[in-house]
Amino acid sequence: MDKNVQNAIEANIIVHSRMADEYNAKEPHFRPESIERVKGIVKSINLSTPITKALDLGCGTGFMINILKDYATEITGVDVTQAMLDKVDKTGNVDINLINSDTGTVALPADYFDIATAYTFLDHLYDMRPTFENTYKSLKNGGVFYADLSPSFYFWNAIKSLDFKRSYDSVLMREINAVLKKDEEIEKEFGIDKNIFAMAEHQKHNLGGLSEELLTKELQSVGFNKITFIYHWFVGQAELINNSELGIEQRKLVSHQMHEYLFRSMPLSRHLFKYIGFIAYK
Ligand SMILES: C[S@@+](CC[C@H](N)C(=O)[O-])C[C@H]1O[C@@H](n2cnc3c(N)ncnc32)[C@H](O)[C@@H]1O
Repeated sequence: MDKNVQNAIEANIIVHSRMADEYNAKEPHFRPESIERVKGIVKSINLSTPITKALDLGCGTGFMINILKDYATEITGVDVTQAMLDKVDKTGNVDINLINSDTGTVALPADYFDIATAYTFLDHLYDMRPTFENTYKSLKNGGVFYADLSPSFYFWNAIKSLDFKRSYDSVLMREINAVLKKDEEIEKEFGIDKNIFAMAEHQKHNLGGLSEELLTKELQSVGFNKITFIYHWFVGQAELINNSELGIEQRKLVSHQMHEYLFRSMPLSRHLFKYIGFIAYK
């Protein structure tokens, strides 16, 4: 295995072994409104046959597995960190098969799954291509690959172009601090060296996030087609959603409306969303 790929895997095992115990409680994507959003996307995916067999790449503690339980009768989760896999809830009537492996080299059955998912995962890979190849082979013809919550290149690029010595409104300062201080916070909270953290999120820290251009090239090179992109979490959404001057329903409504207007303004507004995702078909 390539040394860089190996280093990224080892860094991920260190980072996620330390985070596993508190992962579900600390990560904002486990909040009910975030789960509802993802459930809505999965529900909207159009397949010619119902989802019965699902594959979740970089499954961690089972965020997607829990959502896929509503659809599939068999779910395979793949992850390199055993401490994360140990947290997966295997209860229910669904057959859950967990594999401790790198998604680029894992042996999977061919033409088998109806859906493959990768949630807040792709940026952790040193090279996405082997994982995309594996995913493509393991999907049935017409099967779908849904990936989401990866850092957007457009957003990070726009943030990096700001003058960090200046003072901006709290909406922007929050994002600037996330760029400048995230490593320090992780080091302080989990004792993870910032170089290890950067290696664990190679596509974000070293390559600046994922873009439509890169994803299209990588996905098409292994055979995927009908690619559509998803954008999530606009700049300032955290401040809006936590604004106690408004009732929760009003915050949700304003947030939803802002998202719709910005999304309709694509591609002009693309750099205002922090995360990129996609749906692609075999
Ligand atoms: C940010 S977590 C996301 C976990 C889960 N998908 C979620 O949404 O909560 C990233 C996960 O990817 C796993 N991971 C990183 N590199 C991997 C690789 N090459 N193969 C398989 N899993 C990997 C990590 O161990 C970690 O559990």
